[in-house]
Amino acid sequence: MRVAIIGGGDVAETKHLPNYRSYEGVEVVAVLNRRGEKACSFAERNQIAHAYTDLEEMLSTEKPDIVSVCTPNKHHYHHVMEALKANCHVLCEKPPSIAASEAKEMNDLAKEKGLVLAYNFQHRFSEETAILRNKVQEGMLGDIYYTKLSALRRSGVPGWGNFISKDLQGGGPLIDIGIHMLDSAFFIMGFPEVKKVTANMFQKIGPYKSEGSFGTWNPDQYEVEDSLFGSIELKNGGLIHIDTSFALHMKQAKKLNIEFAGDQAGASLYPLEIYTDENGELVTLFEKGPADTDDRERLSIHSFIHKCLGSQEEWIANGAEGYEIQKLVESLYRSAEIGESIYL
Ligand SMILES: NC(=O)c1ccc[n+]([C@@H]2O[C@H](COP(=O)([O-])OP(=O)(O)OC[C@H]3O[C@@H](n4cnc5c(N)ncnc54)[C@H](O)[C@@H]3O)[C@@H](O)[C@H]2O)c1
Repeated sequence: MRVAIIGGGDVAETKHLPNYRSYEGVEVVAVLNRRGEKACSFAERNQIAHAYTDLEEMLSTEKPDIVSVCTPNKHHYHHVMEALKANCHVLCEKPPSIAASEAKEMNDLAKEKGLVLAYNFQHRFSEETAILRNKVQEGMLGDIYYTKLSALRRSGVPGWGNFISKDLQGGGPLIDIGIHMLDSAFFIMGFPEVKKVTANMFQKIGPYKSEGSFGTWNPDQYEVEDSLFGSIELKNGGLIHIDTSFALHMKQAKKLNIEFAGDQAGASLYPLEIYTDENGELVTLFEKGPADTDDRERLSIHSFIHKCLGSQEEWIANGAEGYEIQKLVESLYRSAEIGESIYL
């Protein structure tokens, strides 16, 4: 399998490259960057044979089997579509795109061409997610009617990259970190159908401060929400609350978790615990300490390669699921913008 990487930045170098290289028979043959010097230095530093700035030239010369899209969110759509048109399987970083219509087109083209399109929602590959998904499918929680997703930081406006640019990223904490918890929750629950979403968003800290525990930023360039809180009503009657923030006055430094409440038991994902109540007493049905090793990045990329090689395993975040998640993100933003609920 010959792999080409589009967007030789941080995630490409620290997550994609090592995890392709640890899969026998896979070779990273080329990297593309908008800027020539960046492409060349990435290739040199990582002993990659070829560096490009022209996408068409890279695709036609290298004829890769796989393309990894690691560019800023705004460019995912174009890079995924071009790679699919060149008959490559594609692993695209999250979020799928900026607009749901784009994620739909990406999925439609991958299906039409019979190619694998996957998104790097690596939290799906945590041990906790795997165990909880199985327990939920076995019915241990019963009917899940309330879910609470948290992707919160007290002081975590990223001081690097493009995370505060609305144009390049499409949004703030919802599209950057909340989206991981949305994907995990829907994956664990088997993608229940959505009836309506409602959200409120705020810009109370980002444009007024310039420093936090994730570095410094220019408040004049802060364009995205710093918090978004929303609710998602499901067609099965269930309710999901989602709380996301880059900066929020709260006690803990951060909170990344999903809590589920069913009519038989409840569960928390990180750390994984399943519990119920017996006559007023808390009863723990299952618990697991933190995993010794965090293998989710490797599993996400290796499962994608297995799938490209013909595996029937369905753990990857595929194009259709990416479209569902993107619809939710877009609807939450739209609801917050217009101050009304959105019916899906
Ligand atoms: N799965 C995760 O948990 C996770 C973590 C971090 C980042 N990401 C995602 O990865 C993507 C990249 O993030 P990053 O942190 O690596 O950013 P980065 O800024 O470090 O890297 C992006 C690279 O793309 C290049 N680039 C920009 N526009 C381009 C274009 N039009 N054509 C070719 N190259 C272009 C930039 O020069 C840069 O080298 C984002 O979509 C982000 O959401 C995902």
